[in-house]
Amino acid sequence: MEVSLLIPAAGNGERLGLGPKAFLRVGGRTLLEWALRAFPGAAEVLVALPPGAEAPRGLRAVFLEGGKTRQESVARLLEAASLPLVLVHDVARPFASTLLVERVLRAAQATGAAAPVLPLPDTLVRPEGEAYGEVVPREALRLVQTPQGFFTALLREAHAYAKRRGLTATDDAQLVRALGYPVALVAGERTAFKITYPEDLLLAEALARVWNA
Ligand code: C5P
Repeated sequence: MEVSLLIPAAGNGERLGLGPKAFLRVGGRTLLEWALRAFPGAAEVLVALPPGAEAPRGLRAVFLEGGKTRQESVARLLEAASLPLVLVHDVARPFASTLLVERVLRAAQATGAAAPVLPLPDTLVRPEGEAYGEVVPREALRLVQTPQGFFTALLREAHAYAKRRGLTATDDAQLVRALGYPVALVAGERTAFKITYPEDLLLAEALARVWNA
């Protein structure tokens, strides 16, 4: 795979309260090790770690110091990428599958920008203070996941544009769209969920058992 894998892993995992997620162990492996398993063919792997964090040994990856935000961490990784295509994947989603990666990669190769999304199963409401407000039609909305894939030059341009304009973003697809370039959607997967809250670790432990079996 002539692709650079960029892993922003420089967050401190504040909502989880167990330190940086990259080093969190589930089923005998760190979340970083789990996350890397879905990309066996990536020709280059670049990982952003929190400032001062010791780089783990024995992984086929280059470690860089991340920035203050996810966006800054990805911008730093992008600077170091040397291949024409990049996949950006959050370490907080350790159970993305190789099938999902292939889907994103194929769409990114064909179109220049691709992101996986999922429909929402719950009813969605805009609260009015403490009260139940207007329901937002869930059919119209999608949850956005990673990995997201891009032509490297396009994502660099999108980050540079965002920096000039002072735009901030929680993922990369929105920066590409802000630049005026369409992002293709592919089917995401529920097991590529984001580990954010303590109870997410229960599901992660269960998935680790299945994947380890
Ligand atoms: O904070 P959030 O959950 O949106 O973080 C998503 C991803 O971005 C995580 O993998 C986290 O490690 C990474 N991140 C980063 N640099 C930061 C903040 C978050 O690489 N300064």
